[in-house]
Amino acid sequence: PFGSTATIVVFGASGDLAKKKTFPALFGLFREGHLSSDVKIIGYARSHLEEDDFKKRISANFKGGNPETVEQFLKLTSYISGPYDTDEGYQTLLKSIEDYEAANNVSTPERLFYLALPPSVFTTVASQLKKNVYSETGKTRIIVEKPFGHDLESSRQLQKDLSPLFTEEELYRIDHYLGKEMVKNLLVLRFGNELFNGVWNKNHIKSIQISFKEAFGTDGRGGYFDSIGIVRDVMQNHLLQVLTLLTMDRPVSFDPEAVRDEKVKILKAFDALDPEDILLGQYGKSEDGSKPGYLDDSTVPKDSKCVTYAALGIKIHNERWEGVPIVMRAGKALDESKVEIRIQFKPVARGMFKEIQRNELVIRVQPNESIYLKINSKIPGISTETSLTDLDLTYSTRYSKDFWIPEAYEALIRDCYLGNHSNFVRDDELDVSWKLFTPLLQYIESDKSPQPEVYAYGSKGPKGLREFLNKHDYIFADEGTYQWPLTTPK
Ligand code: BG6
Repeated sequence: PFGSTATIVVFGASGDLAKKKTFPALFGLFREGHLSSDVKIIGYARSHLEEDDFKKRISANFKGGNPETVEQFLKLTSYISGPYDTDEGYQTLLKSIEDYEAANNVSTPERLFYLALPPSVFTTVASQLKKNVYSETGKTRIIVEKPFGHDLESSRQLQKDLSPLFTEEELYRIDHYLGKEMVKNLLVLRFGNELFNGVWNKNHIKSIQISFKEAFGTDGRGGYFDSIGIVRDVMQNHLLQVLTLLTMDRPVSFDPEAVRDEKVKILKAFDALDPEDILLGQYGKSEDGSKPGYLDDSTVPKDSKCVTYAALGIKIHNERWEGVPIVMRAGKALDESKVEIRIQFKPVARGMFKEIQRNELVIRVQPNESIYLKINSKIPGISTETSLTDLDLTYSTRYSKDFWIPEAYEALIRDCYLGNHSNFVRDDELDVSWKLFTPLLQYIESDKSPQPEVYAYGSKGPKGLREFLNKHDYIFADEGTYQWPLTTPK
C-alpha cells in the first residue's frame, strides 16, 4: 500500500466534490488495501464543522467495506476549519502535519494537496499553500480539478498564476475520464493488437463516434450549469481526452511524457470546429410532464440558450485520418446513462454477398464495461445466409465477480501519489484543447447561434440526431437485423 507516513490534505473538504468523490475514493483505496494505515488525511475548509459531523458527512457516500473498516479509515482523518486567504488556518495545518511527521521520524516529507475547490479561490489557496505548508526538502504534489479556466484566455491566466508557485512536475490536473478503466485500456487495445493496430486508419475505418448520455438533468444545479453548458462541461475535456487517445499515433513507450507528446501532436492536427457542423439542443419537460424542463429550474434565466445537448462533427487532417468523419455527442436528460465509443469499418466489396453489413467495434466505457465487435458470420446449420453477430468481451461475465475495477478517482489519486503523470492533463495539452473549443463556444454563446432545439426529458435527444449521424457516415444497427444480446446498443 502507498502513503505510509504521507499526508493527504483535501481542500474544500466540506464541499460536494470532496464528499461525493475525493473521500470515497480515498476510502475505496484503503478498503482494497492500497492505502497505508499510517497515512494522515486532513480535510480543510472554511465551514465550522465538529470533527464528528465532518466524519459523518464524508462517510455518507462510502461504498463497500464493513463498519470496522470505515471506523479504521475515519481514525486516519481529521478536520481543520480556516480561511482560505490568510495565514492563520494554514499555520494550524502546518503544525498538524509537522507534529505527525515528527512523531513518525519522517525525514523527507511527502505531502499531497487535493484542491477540490471552485476556481474563484484556486489561486489564493495555491499561493497560501506555497507560502505556508510547502516542503522545501520533501515531495509536494498538488491535484487540481476542472474547470481549468472558462476559455483560452482565462485558462492561460490560471496557468500564469499557478506556474510560479508549482512546477509542472508537482501539478496534477485531473480529468477523471482518464482514470476510467476502459479509457485506460485504449492504448493496450489499439497498440497491443495488430488486428486493430493494422486497420486503425482512413483505409479501413468509415466513421468514429463518441457518445455521452446522462439520464438526468441539471437537478437544481442549473444556476451553475447555465454559464458552462454541455460543451464546456464534458466535451472540451472528458470526451476530447477519449478522442485523443483513440486517434493519436503510437507513443514510443508508456512513459507519461511520450504519451502526452503524442496527444498534443494529434490535437494540433484537428481542424477548427465548424459552427455549421453542429447540432444543439436543450431539454424541455418529459413527454408525460412529470420531469421538469431545463428552463423550469428557478435558478436559470427564463430565456437561457444554454446547451444541454450537442453533437459536433470533427475532422482530423493527417495521413491517418484525412476524410474520416468523427462525431462527438453529449447530452443530459436523455433516455439512458451510457458512454461509449463506436468505430464503424468500411464494408467489404459486395460481389459474392447480396448484402453485407459493416464491422463495428464498440467500447462501452460505462455502465457495464464491455468491448464487442460486430462481425458477419454464417447462420449456423444448413443455412448459407450471413448475419451480423459479435465477439463479446463483457467484463462482468468474462471476469470473476470479485474482480476489482477501481473508480476513476481511486486510480488517479494513486497515480498521483506514485508520481505518474500519464493520466493527467499537461499544460500544453490543455492549451491546445482550449484553442480548439474557444471559438466554437464563443459562437454558441453569441447572438449569432440559433436557439437550441428543444427535446423532451427522457428522449433520445434532438430530432435531427439520426440524420446528423447518417450524414457523418454512421449507420444504426437497427437499420439491419443486428441486436446486441445484453441491451440494445444505442
Ligand atoms: C463532470 C461533469 O465533470 O462529469 C458532470 O461536470 C458530469 O456534469 C460528470 O455529470 C460525468 O462523470 P461520470 O464519471 O459520472 O460519467
